Amino acid sequence: MLRFIRGIMGSELKKVPIPRNGVDYRGKIVLAPMVRSGELPSRLTALHYGADLVWGPETVDRSMIGTTRRINPDTKTIDWTRKPSQGAKTPPTEIKDSIIYRIHPEKERGRLIFQIGTSNPDLAVQAARLVAADVAGIDVNAGCPKFFSTHGGMGAALLRTPDKLCSILEALVRNITPEFEIGISVKIRILETAEETEALVRKLVATGITGLTVHCRTTPMRPRERAIRDQLRMVANVCREAGVACLMNGDVETRDQALELVREYGVDGAMIATQAEKNPSCFQAKANGGILPWDEVVERYISYAMEVENKFGNTKILLCQLIPGKQSASRTIGSCKSYTQVCGMLGFNHLMERAREVDFSLDIDPDNLGKKSKKDNSSALAAGGCTPASRPNKSQAKKGLSERGVTAQTTAKTDAHPNEVMTVPV
Ligand SMILES: Cc1cc2nc3c(=O)[nH]c(=O)nc-3n(C[C@H](O)[C@H](O)[C@H](O)COP(=O)(O)O)c2cc1C
Repeated sequence: MLRFIRGIMGSELKKVPIPRNGVDYRGKIVLAPMVRSGELPSRLTALHYGADLVWGPETVDRSMIGTTRRINPDTKTIDWTRKPSQGAKTPPTEIKDSIIYRIHPEKERGRLIFQIGTSNPDLAVQAARLVAADVAGIDVNAGCPKFFSTHGGMGAALLRTPDKLCSILEALVRNITPEFEIGISVKIRILETAEETEALVRKLVATGITGLTVHCRTTPMRPRERAIRDQLRMVANVCREAGVACLMNGDVETRDQALELVREYGVDGAMIATQAEKNPSCFQAKANGGILPWDEVVERYISYAMEVENKFGNTKILLCQLIPGKQSASRTIGSCKSYTQVCGMLGFNHLMERAREVDFSLDIDPDNLGKKSKKDNSSALAAGGCTPASRPNKSQAKKGLSERGVTAQTTAKTDAHPNEVMTVPV
């Protein structure tokens, strides 16, 4: 890749130095940050199929601050846990800790980027400091258009306050890079005109960041609208001039297509979101097998989910993405209430023993026979069953969330940040 860029530039490239524990985004095809869909088992599956780097889901600075870092010997993970902040009715001693962020230090070493949701340089530094020794980079989310991000001045709102965005990046570069020797990057969307985008990117690349990802959609664009690539070459050129690696994002579907796009637009690498959510074997080159059948990928995903004892509700959401809608399994999965039931339904008999162990460990009735199963049922449903029949009505959903230690205040919000509602009892 580098040789290719050298070739088209005809000379050595300027490059912001990559710190010792950091990672160069050049030549990489990476998993996008995805709230809910980018939890640990999804990242491990993407890495298994050849993703070069993986971004964790956006985690808001205030959710991270106050967490305790724990090594979990059972799952070989590092968990950042805390008491849910609003346990109004339950005495604090009875509220279970929630996992805010979980990583697999061995399998993700050198390949995990922590994405932060923030609108405040001091809070960003405080939160980043908690994970910086365990990740290969810190990325600032300046592209999320959802109300839960923008109303706090985070995500895509930062595109309208470029001075604030630059001050956040500068604070991270000044305080995190020297101490932890990792790079800082930013993920943006394009603006309405190429001139506006160029002015923004020129400011961003002057902050000391090592990487920039451009999602080729404007803030008002919906995910189903095709990505616009008109501004991409310009963004790549501005980044290259400044020595900052540039990743493209938006409608990238496979590794082979990504490599073609990289050549066509002169970017340094590409980021894949929705296609990886549907089938993470998209990271595998055609020459190595390419896209695999869904059942093979699902088996791999479930194995990782059970290895790290992923919350069942989250696993079920991902299974709904991974199993194509036309398959009968897609309709049945909504009624499963335990790993044991999922493995039984999918015919993964060799995984049944482990499934029962994980169910017990997660406090789930494997056969859904006892009283406990009712509670787990509503919780899993609230976390997202995929068939219409399994979708909770409003009162079921509310009950499920409150049972997970989320207060009335949080559940009442219709657009609360997923960090607030996807806490995982440990
Ligand atoms: C379920 C889901 C969750 C997402 N969460 C985040 C996030 O946490 N941070 C972020 O910067 N973008 C997030 N995105 C946007 C993606 O990272 C990506 O920019 C977008 O989906 C476009 O890429 P694609 O065309 O490959 O899907 C999310 C997208 C999806 C589908």
